[in-house]
Amino acid sequence: MNQKDFKPRVFSGIQPSGDLTLGNYLGAIKRFVSMQDQKFETIFCMVDLHAITVWQNPTELANSTRELCAGFIASGLDPNKSILFNQSQVPEHAQLAWIFNTVARMGWLNRMTQFKDKAGKNRENVSLALYAYPSLMAADILLYHATHVPVGEDQKQHLELTRDIAAKFNHDYNVDFFPITEPVIEGAGTRVMSLRDGTKKMSKSDPSEMSRINLRDTSEEIALKIQKARTDSDGLPSEISGLKGRPEAENLVNIYAALSNITVETALEDLGGKNFASFKRILSDLAVTELSSISKEMTRLMKDQGELDKILRQGADRAKAIASPILKETYDIVGMVR
Ligand code: TYM
Repeated sequence: MNQKDFKPRVFSGIQPSGDLTLGNYLGAIKRFVSMQDQKFETIFCMVDLHAITVWQNPTELANSTRELCAGFIASGLDPNKSILFNQSQVPEHAQLAWIFNTVARMGWLNRMTQFKDKAGKNRENVSLALYAYPSLMAADILLYHATHVPVGEDQKQHLELTRDIAAKFNHDYNVDFFPITEPVIEGAGTRVMSLRDGTKKMSKSDPSEMSRINLRDTSEEIALKIQKARTDSDGLPSEISGLKGRPEAENLVNIYAALSNITVETALEDLGGKNFASFKRILSDLAVTELSSISKEMTRLMKDQGELDKILRQGADRAKAIASPILKETYDIVGMVR
């Protein structure tokens, strides 16, 4: 069946668990901001229901949700242009996820590498929700008939599953109801790696603080982490081929390009021939300038919790206005009497 035309709509989410990293910023938030000013309707969600698939201290969860909202706004998302809300205020997410639990196959979920990584050897003892996580993620996206989903590289497999769920639902019920969503994984920032090991993703769960830059780090911390970042002993090449087999060098150049809104090719035209000591100074100034203004604004926004809660509530009302009719129609398709 050919797909009907769906309105161009962006949905993406971030878990409010722990500190935001440079990976979240470059791989997601900074790209959300650029999509907000394009042709799309934009919806960005603090996915608290996803966060609790692993244990969260309730007070910290609430604080992280508000802090993420402050981070979105401080980075340039405008609550008048984009819908910003936390997932649990729109119960339709969980309701559609249940329907999708009946569509998704065990075999599909068994292949999810993020589940395998997160569960590790502890497979028998992780929550059922951690396993079903991708089905909720598909519901987040499809509840809005979102056509485009900007994410970092690590979410690619989950988005493929979202497409599979949409296609199977459409096929099983013989409808053209859910869009086959496009993942948007573009630019130099979609795979920011650890500063200690260029083959590992930068992650908030890495035990080494020196492996990541947090959005709330002080200027001194950012500068120190970049200065101490692992490198090799060669200088910087002027062409991409010169980064081959040099994951740490490649990572720092990617970060530079993503922060400067330029391609890696253009970045290397500027950087080729420099040694790491001088490149790290340039990179550190760039990171400090951009991140410290965001961090300062976050601190200011966090002082007015009432205002943040109001933004989330109003965002949730707007999200619900889109989601509720789509869930009702889904129920009708499935044959739920109401
Ligand atoms: P989460 O909360 O782990 O990460 C949020 C976003 O940040 C990106 N990201 C990175 N990008 C580049 N380099 C990195 N080192 C890096 N680390 C994180 C992630 O790719 C993501 O875009 N399952 C999602 C949240 C989610 C979602 C959704 C996303 C729930 N529902 C619906 C899109 C649409 C997650 O855990 O992201």
